[in-house]
Amino acid sequence: MKKIKIAILGLGNVGRGVWNILHTNGNEIMKRSGYEIEVAKILVRDINKDRGIVVPKELMTDDIEEILNDEDIKIVVELIGGSLEAKDYMLRSMKAKKHVVTANKFVLANWGEELFSTAENEEVMFYYEASVGGGIPIIREINESLTANKIQQITGIVNGTTNYILSKMTLEGMDFETALKEAQEKGYAEEDPTADVEGYDVVYKLAIMSSLAFGTKVHPDNIYREGIKNVTSIDIEYAKKFGYVIKLLAIGKEENNKLELRVHPTLVPATHPIANVNDSFNAIFIKGNAVGDLMLYGRGAGDLPTGSAVVGDIISILRNNENMVNFKPSKNYLGLKQIKNPEENESEFYIRLNVRDKVGVLGHIASIFGKNNVSVVSVTQDVKHEDFVSLVFTTHKSLEKNISNSIEEIKECENLNKVESILRIENFN
Ligand code: NAP
Ligand code: HSE
Repeated sequence: MKKIKIAILGLGNVGRGVWNILHTNGNEIMKRSGYEIEVAKILVRDINKDRGIVVPKELMTDDIEEILNDEDIKIVVELIGGSLEAKDYMLRSMKAKKHVVTANKFVLANWGEELFSTAENEEVMFYYEASVGGGIPIIREINESLTANKIQQITGIVNGTTNYILSKMTLEGMDFETALKEAQEKGYAEEDPTADVEGYDVVYKLAIMSSLAFGTKVHPDNIYREGIKNVTSIDIEYAKKFGYVIKLLAIGKEENNKLELRVHPTLVPATHPIANVNDSFNAIFIKGNAVGDLMLYGRGAGDLPTGSAVVGDIISILRNNENMVNFKPSKNYLGLKQIKNPEENESEFYIRLNVRDKVGVLGHIASIFGKNNVSVVSVTQDVKHEDFVSLVFTTHKSLEKNISNSIEEIKECENLNKVESILRIENFN
């Protein structure tokens, strides 16, 4: 049996998952890859930390040079996360003629081009399946299985932490902070969970998926973003009453050669399969002009699901080792496409206001929507608290700029107490 030495950078949640899979499924992996895989070095910050698993002490290092200078190490698996060091270590590994596997969506979304071109120039393989959707094989699906299609839409729940939080808030009435703490304890969250909660992690994943699916360059800065911090239990209850569930969605659409890219909490119909994607599960819907509608579903975060994607990449490298089959993203590149300014995006909206309960207030607000070309679908007036009531509007598809102009005018109304929330609705039609 041929032998191969690899190095793992990072022994946190995913690193431990990879270590465990390599040991638990060692025989199967050996048969499938044709190689006996030896983990020769593991890079961490603190070599003395108790990690709850048994790893020979001599494998641990806090010095990247030990890995880069070891010519026998042929594959480097980057699982440290973050930006500058991760990017630097990946580029230097490639330049040292080592193949690279990563789960790092942040680096990939921001500096993918540099990594892909370095891999190509250095003639090494670069795989990144775990960067989107944890254990879901979405990258291979887009890069290989769906290449016959023009992809028209990708809509997904691609963050395990926020889906865990929203599911717990919706199904168990748990508060935000407790749910976040649980997601962190389960190893779903990023080291700094702001990336999850504020939607940045989803933006990186949408940038990666849409660059590949729509065959163009998408930078995270081109994507509209809102996180889940402002989603309240009141909105969750209203959504339920209207037949919806609130999910943090990544939405990418191509219409008339223009891309619409956005990430925000969204009301989705309770009857749609995506509404029932709970806990740390992720789901990605793809609409292709040949395949039609397709959905992938699985664990989007966690040690073993993510480790599954990482080890799958290592096996792909070993299987392709002899003939250097390396998927080149440039082969998917169809040219630069225009990305819509967020103001031009169109959605149905849910708008909750707190207003003085007085004759004419509802009529006045409705007239402001009308004046700004926003067509109202429904209005619900609820529980009176002192002199104030909630008015919840839902709208037909409206331009973002017409909604923001309406809100600016509504804010001028003397009977408005507060604009409580503005959420988008996706009815998948
Ligand atoms: P983590 O639990 O925070 O682990 C990070 C590991 O990297 C730790 O072992 C840490 O060492 C080490 N490390 C960090 N910075 C380092 C540096 N500068 N030099 C050397 N070692 C360093 O992170 P994780 O959850 O495993 O995530 C790893 C990567 O996978 C991230 O890019 C993340 O976005 C991605 N990812 C995670 C998941 C998930 O479910 N967690 C899913 C998909 C993708 P010490 O232990 O000594 O501090
Ligand atoms: N923090 C990420 C999540 C990890 O919660 O989905 C998976 O990429």
